[in-house]
Amino acid sequence: MTILCWVKFMTDGTAKPDTILVLDFGGQYAHLIARRIREMKVFSEVLPCDLTMHELKSKKSQMKIRGIILSGGPSSVYDENIPTFNIEVMKAGMPLLGICYGHQLIAKQVGGKVIPSKKKEYGITFVTIDKSTGVLNGLDKTEKVWMSHGDTVLELPEEFQILGHSDSSPVAAFRHENLRIYGLQWHPEVVHTEKGNLMLRNFVFDTCECKPNWIVDDYLDTTIKEVKKEVGEGNAIVALSGGVDSSVAAAIAYRAIGKKLTAVLIDHGFLRHGEVKEVKTIFAKLKSNLIVLDRKENFLKRLVGIVDPERKRKIIGEEFIRSFESISKDLKADYLIQGTIYPDRIESGFKKHSDKIKTHHNVGGLPDTTSFKAIVEPIKDLYKDEVRVMAKKLNLPKKIWGRQPFPGPGLAVRIIGEIDSKKPGILKKADRIVTEEIEKANLEDRLWQYFAILTDSKSTGVKGDARAYGYTIAIRAVQSVDGMTANFAKLNYDLLETISSRLTNEVPEVVRVVYDITHKPPATIEWE
Ligand code: XMP
Repeated sequence: MTILCWVKFMTDGTAKPDTILVLDFGGQYAHLIARRIREMKVFSEVLPCDLTMHELKSKKSQMKIRGIILSGGPSSVYDENIPTFNIEVMKAGMPLLGICYGHQLIAKQVGGKVIPSKKKEYGITFVTIDKSTGVLNGLDKTEKVWMSHGDTVLELPEEFQILGHSDSSPVAAFRHENLRIYGLQWHPEVVHTEKGNLMLRNFVFDTCECKPNWIVDDYLDTTIKEVKKEVGEGNAIVALSGGVDSSVAAAIAYRAIGKKLTAVLIDHGFLRHGEVKEVKTIFAKLKSNLIVLDRKENFLKRLVGIVDPERKRKIIGEEFIRSFESISKDLKADYLIQGTIYPDRIESGFKKHSDKIKTHHNVGGLPDTTSFKAIVEPIKDLYKDEVRVMAKKLNLPKKIWGRQPFPGPGLAVRIIGEIDSKKPGILKKADRIVTEEIEKANLEDRLWQYFAILTDSKSTGVKGDARAYGYTIAIRAVQSVDGMTANFAKLNYDLLETISSRLTNEVPEVVRVVYDITHKPPATIEWE
């Protein structure tokens, strides 16, 4: 099984965008650095920190690498077996910016002194800018920045200049006298660093001399070409889930291979109310072949009694692939196209030094072997907001680009605890009520997602004059830009009251309703 890799710009040689690589040391903000740079219309890719010279060379043949950023990370440079980077990469002469752990690591690699701080700095800190030059060009004497570190750089060899300091960090920012090497103890990518964007812009445009040539239209054209090239004369199926990502992947694939593509929606019994009908209507307009495969019984049989969320996800991933394999035989399709996006891969733990949060079914939930020649993932390096831009470029209706994200495993990951044959029906009714009321209140454009969760908590209620013992429904409504972080939405009480009354009145099994007021992090958006 091969995976179509991210080499969108090598096909014609003319469209290679300027690129900044982010080497990931496992920091929670590594992806944010790449996002901020992409917002400047410069392409950025996150790679494992121990990139070899060979890998760098191969990347260079695919893209115009203008500079490298070393991310932060949870390690201390004095721990054993710490994640580190290949010093040869630094010697390659490319501009280098170390952030937090990256800053300390460069200092240590060049022979500087890094020590555990007497006073750790977490959160907003004021730093003094000693020289507003290079990456710090245009900054004031005192700047508000976001720090999160335990170690601190004390000294550097004499060819390095100190550009900034704080009460606890004598070397909070540095540069090499002649080489384009910088270190910042703080996090410019985090919004709390007031002029963080300016610092990154200085690095990207002045130090690395990038041009803002990361353009979604180019991406679209090259992605379509890549899918066409990969699938060749073969047939492909595309996995639809009812969410925006798979719909966009389908639209791209349709442009690439037209009638050789069949979109397949697996009805696993955990789709939302009216989903099958809605997807059929949308895809009829797109004129793409669509098959709806009824696998409700197969999925339920395997999921009944399963409690562990990761186990559920694995089973679902496996059932999905087997369902796709069986239909692909009938259609003589060798390729499976799916709408995996970048955050799915991050949270499934594709990065070496970051934790696996959960197995997104279309990534880590897949079994190791499949009968497909290749699994093609045309949008696997895009964030959700970029996917929506792409959907608009593809002239897809708002029904698609405005659709709220819906996880591949569907309502199965919103039934907490053991799954049985009755629970999907209860949750479907509850979810429909939440959706209807949010949409009646015209809030759908302001929310990233809104849905119901069937918790495994039962409690006592009173319905009519009789005691009722039933389920608790949780309502989740969040605002987010990319799904990587999210805030619970401060819905008004009248709306919550309406939803609550409808849930307890219209769904007999429900006696209690709660509203989830947790941000991500520390929670995730889905409950499982
Ligand atoms: P979490 O729950 O990880 O979700 O905060 C982040 C975003 O991803 C969606 N999600 C999934 N999407 N397959 C998908 O295609 C999955 O297995 C999956 N799990 C979560 C979730 O709805 C949210 O938008």
